[in-house]
Amino acid sequence: MPLVNTKEMFKKAYEGNYAIGAFNVNNMEIIQGIVDAAKEESAPLILQVSAGARKYAKHIYLMKLVEAAVEDSGLPIALHLDHGDSFEICKSCIDGGFTSVMIDASHHSFDENVEITKQVVEYAHERGVVVEAELGRLAGIEDAVSVSEKDAAYTDPNQVIEFVERTGVDSLAIAIGTSHGAFKFKGEAQLRFDILEEIQKKLPSFPIVLHGASSVIPEYVEMINKFGGDMPGAKGVPEEMLRKAASMAVCKINIDSDLRLAMTASVRKYLAENPSHFDPRQYLSPARLAIKEIVKHKLVHVLGCNGKV
Ligand code: G3H
Ligand code: 13P
Ligand code: ZN
Repeated sequence: MPLVNTKEMFKKAYEGNYAIGAFNVNNMEIIQGIVDAAKEESAPLILQVSAGARKYAKHIYLMKLVEAAVEDSGLPIALHLDHGDSFEICKSCIDGGFTSVMIDASHHSFDENVEITKQVVEYAHERGVVVEAELGRLAGIEDAVSVSEKDAAYTDPNQVIEFVERTGVDSLAIAIGTSHGAFKFKGEAQLRFDILEEIQKKLPSFPIVLHGASSVIPEYVEMINKFGGDMPGAKGVPEEMLRKAASMAVCKINIDSDLRLAMTASVRKYLAENPSHFDPRQYLSPARLAIKEIVKHKLVHVLGCNGKV
């Protein structure tokens, strides 16, 4: 089976009240850990690549590794560009074999966001590739920001119908209170499910995407700190909130930080306990296993997409 796009996956996920995991990949061990987990759980999968990942590993290496994963696992896998910030990077990924791209023009005005997104959609759809766009702004939703500015960063439900109709986009990332990285909330985690509900009413059966969805698992943070790290106050999205989002219109949940934490905790522990070892295979084997375990947990207990192949 070749790489697939996300059309069929999202349709089933929407109807089945679950979500597909979109995991960021940067190297072979991360890809293998994720795909091993999905294979064991018979889960459809989105592997996503950021501009930084492309710079780190090179497009061609990631492409070939993901093609190997498809061939080795036989799973339906979509290869997605995460946070493409221009038409050019989206075009480069579409031309280079990706089956899905995100154009993130959310930092532009509404009309500019529409124009750039529409340009990407036209190019992508002619080539069988699907497009995710973003409305509202994830970054900047911080405690330090005053309430009115804070509200302005959430997705405005009154804009979603016009945005989707004018752009022809296939899925929409929305801002309801999550943010990227390991330090999402200072106090109690709060997501604006009322906004999600309103958007769902306005766009029936339309797939919604949730970015910044790592839970920042405390065990990994503790392990990192126990073995020489320093990560005070890390806090993520509680799993029950993600399960609730997955049972609603959210069909794609983006997770990167939790995988980074799992991998880093494992490498720190291994090297602290085996100070004389220096073969990368020795510390990358448990790291790859840690990725597999955290992804299995997400597939079964958070996303609910296990057994959905
Ligand atoms: O949303 C961002 C992802 O976590 C990717 O991060 O740009 O450091 O690769 P990155
Ligand atoms: P986290 O930093 O919460 O893992 O979010 C990842 C993400 O949204 C990638 O696009
Ligand atoms: Zn993101």
